[in-house]
Amino acid sequence: MPVFRSSVLLLAAAACLFARQPVRARHAMVVTRETHATQAGLKVLRAGGNAVDAAIAVGFALAVTHPAAGNLGGGGFLLVRRANGETVFLDFRERAPLRASRDMYLNAGGGLTDASRVGYLASGVPGTVRGLELAHRRFGSRKWADLVEPAVQLAAQGFPVSYGLAQSLRSSRELLGGHPESKRIFLNNGAFHEPGARLVQPELARTLARIRDQGSRDFYEGETARRLAADMAANGGLIGLEDLRSYQAVERKPLAGRYRGLEILTAPPPSSGGIGILQMLGVLEGTDYQAPGAGSAASLHYLAEAMRRFFFDRARYLGDPDFGPLPVEKLLSRERIERQRASIDPARATPSSGLAPDWLEPSQTTHYTVVDAQGNVAAVTYTLNGSYGSGVTARGLGFLLNNEMDDFAAKPGHPNLFGLVQGEANAIAPRKRPLSSMTPTIVLRGGRFYMALGSPGGPTIINTVLQVLVNVVDFGMNVQEAVDWPRIHHQWLPDELLVERGFSPDTIALLKSRGHQVRMRQSIGDVAAVVSDGGWLQGAPDGRSEATAEGY
Ligand code: GLY
Repeated sequence: MPVFRSSVLLLAAAACLFARQPVRARHAMVVTRETHATQAGLKVLRAGGNAVDAAIAVGFALAVTHPAAGNLGGGGFLLVRRANGETVFLDFRERAPLRASRDMYLNAGGGLTDASRVGYLASGVPGTVRGLELAHRRFGSRKWADLVEPAVQLAAQGFPVSYGLAQSLRSSRELLGGHPESKRIFLNNGAFHEPGARLVQPELARTLARIRDQGSRDFYEGETARRLAADMAANGGLIGLEDLRSYQAVERKPLAGRYRGLEILTAPPPSSGGIGILQMLGVLEGTDYQAPGAGSAASLHYLAEAMRRFFFDRARYLGDPDFGPLPVEKLLSRERIERQRASIDPARATPSSGLAPDWLEPSQTTHYTVVDAQGNVAAVTYTLNGSYGSGVTARGLGFLLNNEMDDFAAKPGHPNLFGLVQGEANAIAPRKRPLSSMTPTIVLRGGRFYMALGSPGGPTIINTVLQVLVNVVDFGMNVQEAVDWPRIHHQWLPDELLVERGFSPDTIALLKSRGHQVRMRQSIGDVAAVVSDGGWLQGAPDGRSEATAEGY
């Protein structure tokens, strides 16, 4: 037996060595989707700026260097945990324009059109610039202009196009090529941007310079607002000057819960993500789902069944909290969670009811995480929704507009174009915010910062954050291994289990034998996570993308 025990230990040690290591630093850490943005954040931190200062600089830099999701024309959420213990959630989600209406995406026969995804009608009123400005007013310690300036320079001087960006732009040629301004800027007029070539964006540089000098007033009431409203009016869009002038970012109370003695701080509605994370962790905590080991069919089955049950609730109950009460307490109550847990059969998948269209998940959001030397933490997820949003670049302004209107239930009770069934609570109404899955999350251990993370990926965001969390907490992985580990996704309808490459064929066969409709999926999520442990900050960029982590 001693021989057996030592060989087990040797194997365990070898497994640790094979795991990719996170980036480690003593004082501060930035993890973002793109290297110039990471460097912009790190520079702010090194110069004594705090995590929110750096998050603002990263947000503007990504709007230049990661145009698929970094944005001025979209929206998002910022979760801040301050060194003094205060936790604040800023909601700068897009809102439906004043002239939006419930059935605006239905054709004469009552069918769904694609106008919620592509073109001028697809955009909600952008929130990012107001949101970053609110973050600065509440927590900033450096001059606003100094935080916007790196983005102005990246746009004006240009930056070398990475392999991934070149590929991404080329693969979006159909969407971007349908809009002349987008084609000119992002497709190099059809000649494409090659890896290594410089992407210079003079219109965007001028827009950013006005934001640097005049703050959000320019974007919502000044020259940028006037140009954007005129371009919308000329092309059948709904966003007008009053929509822009009246847009406000809002501060909301974060959701809080506990899991295995840790405190979880996460996104409240209009995100569905925080409710999902807390509900699914609650279901898992009362089981021994982790005992068979990470990646085993038995534990994946429990994860999938918890996901299925949450997405059923999401479709029925969740929407913008400013448009009617949501049953958040009920969904997270102990009795409800126990009932959900009891309804899981460990040996069989529970069939989801209803019809399922062919499912394709388009979302290209982005998440970044910043921790500073004082112990402040900023976790930001922001988005244009789909990759490159609606495909429309506002004329003369150089930035892409979101297609966030597609996150509403364009026809409640029916699957949207991407298979997500949503309910009345998320029907379209003027000024309403569409239900989101973005889930910036911070975990405390003994009241101190332990972990911060988030991801893009539309509905897959919630399940991605869940899996990285349990990989660290329940399966003992280092944060990089937890991020790199293959993922699954279930969203109730369609009734299928998406599975990334990396699980063994035996595991997949066992999932199928339990009744899961397994579909292989190239990639799920793109996490930016930071863990604080043993005096080290550990930054984990996702191996699925060109994300980077840097610290000092
Ligand atoms: N647009 C992605 C989300 O908010 O869930």
